[in-house]
Amino acid sequence: MAVEIRCSTANLTNWSGQALAVGLFSGDSGDGTRRQLEERFGAALLQRLEQGRFKAKPGESLSIDLLGQQPGLLVLVGLGAPADFGPEQLRSATAAASRTAAAAGVAQLAIAMPVEGLDPASAASAMAEAVRLSLYADQRFKSEAEPRPCPEQVELLGMPEQAATAVGTAAAVCSGVELARELVAAPPNVATPAALADTAAAIARDHGLELKVLERADCEALGMGAYLAVAQGSDLPPKFIHLTYRPAGAVQRRLVLVGKGLTFDSGGYNLKTAGSQIEMMKYDMGGSAAVLGAMRAIAELKPAGVEVHMIVASCENMISGGAIHPGAIVTASNGKTIEINNTDAEGRLTLADALVYACKLEPDAVVDLATLTGACVIALGEEIAGLWSPSDGLAEALVDAGSRGGENLWRMPLRASYRDGLKSGLADMKNTGPRPGGSITAALFLQDFVTPAVSWAHLDIAGTVWSDKGRGLDPAGATGFGVRTLVNWVCAGGPA
Ligand code: BES
Ligand code: MN
Ligand code: ZN
Repeated sequence: MAVEIRCSTANLTNWSGQALAVGLFSGDSGDGTRRQLEERFGAALLQRLEQGRFKAKPGESLSIDLLGQQPGLLVLVGLGAPADFGPEQLRSATAAASRTAAAAGVAQLAIAMPVEGLDPASAASAMAEAVRLSLYADQRFKSEAEPRPCPEQVELLGMPEQAATAVGTAAAVCSGVELARELVAAPPNVATPAALADTAAAIARDHGLELKVLERADCEALGMGAYLAVAQGSDLPPKFIHLTYRPAGAVQRRLVLVGKGLTFDSGGYNLKTAGSQIEMMKYDMGGSAAVLGAMRAIAELKPAGVEVHMIVASCENMISGGAIHPGAIVTASNGKTIEINNTDAEGRLTLADALVYACKLEPDAVVDLATLTGACVIALGEEIAGLWSPSDGLAEALVDAGSRGGENLWRMPLRASYRDGLKSGLADMKNTGPRPGGSITAALFLQDFVTPAVSWAHLDIAGTVWSDKGRGLDPAGATGFGVRTLVNWVCAGGPA
C-alpha cells in the first residue's frame, strides 16, 4: 500500500504524533525554526545541537529519541544556507527526512520545512513526490519479501488547504513514475514487447483509453522497414503500441509522446562487447516506460482540452540467422532508404517509423524519449537528459516542465552541418555517423522522419534512466525519469 500523504495546517510547535522531521538551515538563519524547537523541546536540545557535529548541511540528518514524549522521535535534516534553498533542496531534504524516519520504523510522520517563501502548491507537490518516490522499493523478484519499514501516514506541516489538490496530483504522477521504474527494472525476460503491450492494455482498461496494437504484418503493410529490420532478429514478435487519451470536452491540442521500446539491445551483429554493459540493456525501453507511466498519470488526472497519443515501436535487438546484416539497406515508412552501417544504432531505426506514424496523426507537437546514445551519457552524465528541438517554444516549455518536476533537461544543438556524417554513397542516409557528436547526429537522423510543420522535440535519457547508487529522490536502480516532465508539460496544455 502506498504511503498516505496529507497537508496539515499544524506546525512544529503544536503537531503531536509519533515522529516529527524538521528542516534546519545551517548557521543561525533567524527563520524562527530554532526558536520554535527550543520552545517545544527545551534549550537543552539546541545546546546539544551546537555541541554536536550536526551542521545542518544539505543531506545531513540527525535522529533524536525523545523518550516518553510526543513525538517520540525528532528527525533534524540539514538544508544548507537559506540563500541556496529552493525546490530542489526541498525535495532532497524531504527525501532524507522520509528515509531516516522509515529506517527508524516510524508509522506516523510529520514533516516541517521552511516553505513560506515558495508557492504552496509547488512546495506541496515537491514534498509529496519526495516522500513517496524516496520510499519506493521493488521486491517483485525476491522469493520472500524482506521486511521493510515504511511510514503509513505522512503529514506535510504548515500547508494550507489549497495545497491538498497538488498532493492528489502528485499521487497520480508518482503512480506513473513507479510504473516506469517497475518496467525499466524488470528483466528482459519479463519486460518483453508483449508485456509492454499488456501494460498499455491494462491502462486502457482501467482508465477507459483507446488502444491499438499493430502486429508485424500490420507494420509490414504500413511499410515500416526500419523498425521491422531491428525486430527481425528476435524470436519475440514486435508490438507497435498506440494508446490514446481523449478529453471529455473539446480538443484544443493534440500531442504525441513517442518512447523507444527496445526491451533488450544486444547490439545485433555489431554486438555489444566487454565494458558496454550489455547486461544492463534491459533498460533500453526507458523511453517507453516513461511514456507509459505518463499515460497512466494523464489517464488519472484527465486534463481538459488536450488529446494525447502514446506510441511505442517495441521489439528486441538480437542476433540470429534472420537478424539484419550490418550493411543492409532498408526502406522506412516515409520512403527513405537507410544503409544500416551499424546494427547497434537500432533505436533510431525503430523511432524513424514511430515518428512517421506520429506525424500522420497531424499533431500540434511530438516529443520522443529514448535511451538513444552512449555519447549523451558522456556529455551530460546521469543527472541531465539531452533535449533537441528546432522549436524554441517547445524546448523552453519542456525544460520548464522538467524543472517543476525536479528533472533536469539541457538543450543541445541540432547542428545541420553535422548531418553530413550520415551521408551514404548508396542509400538516402546511413543510420550511424562518426563518434564525435554522436548524440547530435542521432537527433539529426530522427529529424529526417518528422514532418517539418510538426513541432518536435527529442529527449535522450540514456544517462538518466538508471542510477547505480541512487540519487536525490531515486533509490538505486530505475529512476522513472521523464514521467514528471511529460505530465507537467501535457497538463500545462502542451507547446507554446
Ligand atoms: N541503447 C544504446 C544507447 C545506450 C548506451 C544507452 C549506453 C544507455 C547506455 C543504443 O542503442 C546504442 O547502442 N547506441 C550506440 C550508437 C552507436 C552505434 C552510433 C552507442 O551509443 O554506442
Ligand atoms: Mn544499440
Ligand atoms: Zn539501444
